[in-house]
This record gives sequence, structure tokens and C-alpha cells, in this order.
Amino acid sequence: MKTPSQLLRDRLTPAFGTVAGVPVDPIVQRSQHADYQANGTLALARRLGADPRELADRILAEADLSGVVSAAEVSGPGFINLTLADEVIGALAGAALADDRIGVPRAARPDTVVVDYSAPNVAKEMHVGHLRSTVIGDAAVRVLEWAGHRVIKRNHLGDWGTPFGMLIEHLLDIGEGEAAHELSVGDLNGFYTAARRKFDADDGFKERARQRVVLLQGGDEATLRLWHLLVGESKRYFVSVYELLGVRLTDADFVGESAYNDELQPVVEELDKLGLIQISDGAKCVFPEGFTGRDGTPLPLIVQKSDGGFGYAATDLAAIRNRLRDLDATRLLYVVGVPQRQHFEMVFATARAAGWLTSQARAEHVGFGSVLGADGKVLRSRAGGTFKLVDLLGEAVDRANTVVSEKNPDLAAAIRTEIAEQVGMGAVKYADLSTDRVRDYVFDFDRMLALDGNTAPYLQYAHARIKSVFRRGDVAPVRDGSPVLITETAERALALELLSFPDVLADVVETLEFHRLAHYLFGVATTFTGFYEKCPILKAETPALRESRLALTDLTARVLETGLDLLGIAAPARM
Ligand code: ARG
Repeated sequence: MKTPSQLLRDRLTPAFGTVAGVPVDPIVQRSQHADYQANGTLALARRLGADPRELADRILAEADLSGVVSAAEVSGPGFINLTLADEVIGALAGAALADDRIGVPRAARPDTVVVDYSAPNVAKEMHVGHLRSTVIGDAAVRVLEWAGHRVIKRNHLGDWGTPFGMLIEHLLDIGEGEAAHELSVGDLNGFYTAARRKFDADDGFKERARQRVVLLQGGDEATLRLWHLLVGESKRYFVSVYELLGVRLTDADFVGESAYNDELQPVVEELDKLGLIQISDGAKCVFPEGFTGRDGTPLPLIVQKSDGGFGYAATDLAAIRNRLRDLDATRLLYVVGVPQRQHFEMVFATARAAGWLTSQARAEHVGFGSVLGADGKVLRSRAGGTFKLVDLLGEAVDRANTVVSEKNPDLAAAIRTEIAEQVGMGAVKYADLSTDRVRDYVFDFDRMLALDGNTAPYLQYAHARIKSVFRRGDVAPVRDGSPVLITETAERALALELLSFPDVLADVVETLEFHRLAHYLFGVATTFTGFYEKCPILKAETPALRESRLALTDLTARVLETGLDLLGIAAPARM
């Protein structure tokens, strides 16, 4: 089925083509001045050196809009304002109801998308940056999968490198049993800090750590066993956080830095053969075009250090080559904080220069800002250290419990516990996803758990209230495709809003700006409130109207539930 904007575009495109002499996109968008607006006239007028209003008049005279609009007029500098016919809105809403994808098409040409996200570091606590990456990456996976793309998850775990020398020596010092215990209860920072302290204070320990790195890189079996122990315990802990969060990451999605070890040397050789390697201070470097430091000198991407070791950049080069060449990815996403933007741009530029990244694929750094505390500084725990993520999530659930108990004191304890988890996790995720991701945001429990405003609890509560209409009326939704009746402006506004869902999703698939979906859902919930206040549903004047309003109510619930699910947020049926 078509969305209103597609319907209008299909009718306007031939007229734009006739007037312009070449195919032109009419650019049909939602508008405050009419239902939709075609803005394509402005760019076209510039191109033709014509008067935009006159051009718009000619296009309107040419266009066949019969049976689709009830009004079409030129406005402002030359926009075309379009008002859909009520019957068209009613028919499309009826069709969306009968569709189990509520009008959202599957991608005609599916991408193979590799999503690199979460990526915490072994034996180190996940920080709020990892939380953001996990939550945003999960939304990306859900939206892209639902849109019909093939999604490959890559949790690029930091499980390799020089710190493992000191970590393994510390493990030997305290004993395997104790180490496993500390790591499995999530005391990752304690373990890491203790190792670090010894490394800094004790030269003997430092030397042992250095030798241990050599053994690890040389593939020494006893060392590898200890390394596996560290990695295994950390993974177990991270998976427990993922389960708590309800994200789709599992143990199978870890493809850590160590997975690329065997590809590092071949990558250097390949880059060398292509003439892309230069020696700088003894290190093998690539100088991708267009990257210079503040003083104007070209910036290096270090591929192999002077001591022969490989670092973060080399691993990312091996990873991108693997994803493009072996996984046949057509879209690569890296959900990593804004400070790493330049690193990824340099990796992409190198992959392009090497011929791995061609016009067949695109690579995107899906960057995000920092999480700030109430003081406007990067979020810290009360003790001043970094946050333990599980504590933060636990507190969200505790506070959600209070909110839910106050709102609905009659809920049975077991149900309340479950709902509190859904509300607490939802609040944390929504606070993150509803802000423009490249910006910093303030982590504020009171605001994210408020029952009014643009929050998860507000949307969850709106959804539960809509579901309660069906419970109270003891009716089941009818989804037979019959048109929805448009008798009131509030019905019309709601139907129109619901019919935009496919356009909003298409936009989010492209931009990965999840706040656009969040704001849309918020708009749906408030538009429903307007409808609910104006239009009796169960007590509608006629049975046909009651049926029709129940249909709109059902469609609202499904759009909210689907939209929230795509953000990784549950929509409980009662609250
Ligand atoms: N482990 C890194 C960190 O904590 C993030 C890795 C991101 N992914 C990547 N392919 N480099 O900063």
C-alpha cells in the first residue's frame, strides 16, 4: 500500500516532468499549512531561472490530482499546498489496519548492514558511553531488520593489547578463583585498578607484565588459557548487562579485536603493495588524503608500530576489510562516540584508497555525544569515579517502581515488578534516543521518569490507556480493511499522523536519527489525546462510528507499540 506522500508524489511527478523537461522530485512533505506540501518547485525554479509561483501554477494546471486531494493551491514563494480528500485518508487508514506491517513496506533492495556497537573492554567496567552505543546500536539493529535489511551484529570487544600483560600477572597474583569471582560479580574496575596500581608502582611486576605480553602474542598456551579466562568472565558479565537492558546482543555477537590478529600482517602487506605505506619515526603509517593536524602537516594512521606491534587502527583496518570483502557488507555502521570521528574517517579514507570501500558500499560513523551529570560535567558516580552501569540501571528500576505504584496502587506485586522493569529500562533508553544523538544530554532520573512530557513512561502510559479502551468495552479490534470514517477534525488529524509512520521510518533508516522516531511517537500520543477528548469511542453515536473509532484506536496502539519496540522499549498493556 502507498502512503499519502507517495500517492501525492506519484500524481505530481509527471506534471513536474512535463514542465521541467526532465524528471524532478516534487519533494512532498508534511506541512503545518496544509496536510502536505510540495517544495520541489523552488529548486526547479532556480535551475530554470523561472518565477517559482508561476512555475507552481503551471505544474498544478498540469497535474492530475483528481480523487486524491480536496484542495491544492500555490502558497508563499511557490510551494504547492495539498489537502487530502477525507475519503482517501479513511481508505488508507483502513488499509493500514488490515496490513500486519501497518503500512510499512519491506526494503526493495535490502542492504547487508554490519553494525559495530557496544564494544566494551575486557576487565573494565562498561561506562555510559558503552551504554549509549549499546542502546543506539540496538535501535539501529531493530529498525534495519524490521525494514527488511540483512543485519550482522559486531560487538568489537576490546580483548587484546598490552594491558593484558598486567591483567594476567595480576590474575596470577590473586589466584584464578578470586579473579573469576571479582570479574563475574562485575567488580571489573576493582580488578583493573589493582593491576594498574601494581604496574605503576612495582618495577618487577612491570617487567613480568611486559614478558607476559610477549608470551601472549607468541601464542604461549598457558598464557592463552589465562587470557581466555579473563575474556570469558568479562563476556559473561557483559551479557548479563545486555539481558538486563533487553537488547538483542548475545554471546554469539562478540567478534573482538583479537579475532583479527591473523589478518593484521596481510593488511600491512596489502597496503604496502598498493604503495600506501610510508615510514614515519620507524612506524608504518598511511597518510590518507585530506587529514592534517593543526599545523597543516599530514596526519598518520599508524598501521604497525616501530616495535612491530599493532594497535587500534590496524585492527579497524583488518575489520573493515573483513566486513567488506568477506561479509559482502553494503553498509557499515560504527556506533561510537563523537571523539573517535576522525579515527573512523581516516579508516574509511584508507579503505577507499585500498579499493576495499567502493561505490557499492557506504561506511558511516554513527557518532554520539556525552552523558552529563546534573552539574553539566561528564557523568560520575557519587564517589567521583566512573559509574557502575548496573547500579545506574538498578536505580532506574527502583524509581520506576515508585512511579508505577503511585499511578496504580492496585496492581499485583508480581505484575508491578515486571512493569517497573519495563518502565525503568524504557526511561533510560528513551532519554538517550529522544535527543539528537550527536549532542550531549543530561542524565536526570526525575525528568526521564516523568509521566508527562516527552518520556518513555508517558508513551507507555498512553499506550496502556488506549489498550484499556478495548478491555473496558470488552471488544476486539476489527482489521478487515474497511475504510475509517472521517467525521471530525480530530479523527482526521489522528489518521493523518498514523499514516506518516512509514515515511518517518524510511527517514530513520537513512539518517539513523532515532529522535525523529521518538518525536513522532510523542506526536501520535498527543494527537490521540486530542481525539480521545473530542470523540467518544465506546459511546459513539452510531455502531458504524464506534467501529471506525475503535479501528483508529487500534491503529494508534499498534503504531505506538511497534515504534517503541523499534527503540527497544516495551509497551505493557496495563500500567
Ligand atoms: N572498545 C572501544 C572503546 O571502548 C570501542 C570500539 C569501537 N569499535 C571499533 N570498531 N573501533 O572505546
